[in-house]
Order: sequence, then structure tokens, then C-alpha cells
Amino acid sequence: MTTLEVRDLVKDYTLRSGLRRSTLRAADRVSFTLVPGRTVALVGESGSGKSTVARMIARLEKPSSGSITALGPDGRRVSGRAYRHHVQMVFQDPFASLNPFHTIEHHLIRPLRLHGRAAGRAQTRRLAGELLERVNLTPAADFARRRPHELSGGQRQRVAIARALAPGAQVVIADEPVSMLDVSIRLGVLNLLARLQREENLAVLYITHDLATARHFSDDILVMYRGRVVESGPADEVILSPRHPYTRLLASAAPDPEARGRSLEPMPAAAEPAGPLPPTGPGCRFRDRCPSAMPVCSRTPADHPVGPDHYAACWLHAESGRETSGAVAKAGPGGKAGAEDNSGAGRAG
Ligand SMILES: Nc1ncnc2c1ncn2[C@@H]1O[C@H](COP(=O)(O)OP(=O)(O)OP(=O)(O)O)[C@@H](O)[C@H]1O
Ligand SMILES: [Mg+2]
Repeated sequence: MTTLEVRDLVKDYTLRSGLRRSTLRAADRVSFTLVPGRTVALVGESGSGKSTVARMIARLEKPSSGSITALGPDGRRVSGRAYRHHVQMVFQDPFASLNPFHTIEHHLIRPLRLHGRAAGRAQTRRLAGELLERVNLTPAADFARRRPHELSGGQRQRVAIARALAPGAQVVIADEPVSMLDVSIRLGVLNLLARLQREENLAVLYITHDLATARHFSDDILVMYRGRVVESGPADEVILSPRHPYTRLLASAAPDPEARGRSLEPMPAAAEPAGPLPPTGPGCRFRDRCPSAMPVCSRTPADHPVGPDHYAACWLHAESGRETSGAVAKAGPGGKAGAEDNSGAGRAG
């Protein structure tokens, strides 16, 4: 089974406004590991960089720096064509991701053939039928000959999931897979993903705005804010005992009453959406919204341990204000290194 290691991933976009150019760091030294049989949720508000990370993993975009490595069970690197077989995406919009002119069967046969999983025509069609059954689109023969517009949104997303499985996916990146679906059918699609994850021992990255489903459907949670992972840890820990002020803000606004009730202290309602903080440069990116901001927050915090396998990139959890920002804190879900101040101005004194 394939493990995916993401290390210090950075994506800079150049923004042009007239003659002026600036850089937006959409992902800033993001690190995590996806292992078979486990789901990691990536949560954060709109624009925090979640899809940027997903697109780099799917090889739709090149990282500015950092690495993404898929490792097979023998510890060998999975690359090239094999990477594209093993690492599959499920996108938010099942309408846009299926071609309206082709039948459902065609959508499945193509990846089965391209990735060499089926030989003859009859075998390919049989495998396509099996895939439809696996995602509960039965009778499979009936769904196979329909076109996308003859399916509901939820059924289309099931086809997208079957298509991800077709080439033998081992790592699935699901970028808001249910946010465009009617609320009443979301749970069914998430339960399907969870079942397939167990049956196929998949490594899953589940990207969402929704803390309740992140908690329910994932083992670990990464909280992203303006390109940085600010908190990571076991799902229940992060939602019920959030330690980063930004996670607390998310949890206090969440519809999950249990998470709300357990958040450590109420957040002031004043926390506004992100303002014009420089898009790169040192310092905690939440400091302009943070009710606990301190002078030291102009330096980049490291990932401080706040519980078993639980880390928060926040000076509130530094052992002392004298800790250097270059200090290395060990791993969140998967061994990420502590943050370093990229300006070199992060030496506390
Ligand atoms: N091609 C691009 N060129 C310039 N900026 C971009 C590009 N793609 C994304 N961005 C910017 O990068 C930031 C992160 O975008 P991204 O789509 O990763 O956010 P997200 O967390 O997925 O948000 P959402 O929850 O709304 O899907 C945003 O500020 C976005 O405007
Ligand atoms: Mg997105």
C-alpha cells in the first residue's frame, strides 16, 4: 500500500496589478503524511490554501519548493505513471468533472484501459460494472449506459469515486467532495467513502469546511490558516480541545454543540476575516485577528506540542518566550518539522 509524504510544501503565486507585482504564499511549508487505512482532514476557511495543496498532490500544479513523495510497501518511491494510478482526486463539482457526451461506462472504461487494469472488451465492461456496484449504483447495467445528466448530483459523485478507484487508487484526495450536494445526501456519500477507505485500505485526505464531518470521518485533523498548518492532531483532540486561537474560533462557530461546549473559552465575536497582512514574511499569520496576540507573535511560532501527537503553531504554547522560533518540534500526523522563520528574524531574545 502506498504512503504519501508531504514535506515543507510551498506554493507562491505571483499577483499582478498594473505594473505592480506581489507574491501570495498560498501554501507555506505544509507537511503531513497520509498512511493506508487512515483519513486526514484538512480544514480551514476559504482561501486558506487547501485546494492549492490538493492540486500539487494531484500534480496539477508544481510546488515552488518542498516535496511530495509516494512510497510503496517496499519503501520504494512510486513515480511517473504509477504515481498517477495510485494518487487520485475526487473534486467538489461532480457536474464539471464528468463529460456530458459520454456514458457512465465510458468514464470508467477509459481509466481501466489507460492504467492497464483490463485486457479485453468483455473484461473491461465487467470491471466497470463491478465498480458501479461497489459505489451502490445498481443495477449497474442500467447506470452504465446513462449519461451524466441522467444522474442526480449524489449519483454523479459516486461515479467520480468509482472513476478514482478504477486505476487502482491507493491514495485519494477528496476536495470538498460533498459541499455541492444536497445536505440530505451528503452523509451517504461520505459513508461510502469511509467504507471504501476501510475495504481498500486507502490513505485519504478529506478537505472540508465542516468540522463536524471532519471529526466524524477522519483520524487526524490539520487546520490551515493563510497557507500554514496552525494545528494538527487526533480529530477528537483538535475539535474538542482546540489549542490554537484560530481553531478555537472555528470550533466556537461550529454547529457541533459538543465541540462548541468544550472549546476552552469563548472567542470574542470581533474576530474578522483576514485583513491585509503581508502575504509572506515572518510572524504568526493569525496575529491581526487573534485575541491573545502578543509582541512575540511578529516572529513565526514553531509547532509546539500541546498533547499526544497534538501540535499548535502558537507562542501561547511555547515553554517560554525565549524559545527560538527555529526550534524543531517533532511531527504532527506524520513527522513534520517545526516551523522556521524564513526571514531569520525569528530569534527571540
Ligand atoms: N492560480 C492562482 N493564481 C493566483 N492566486 C491563486 C491561484 N490559485 C489560488 N490562488 C490563491 O491562493 C489562495 C488559496 O486558494 P485555495 O483555492 O487553495 O483555497 P481553499 O482553502 O481551497 O479555499 P476554498 O475553501 O474556498 O476552496 C487564495 O488566496 C487564492 O486566491
Ligand atoms: Mg478549495
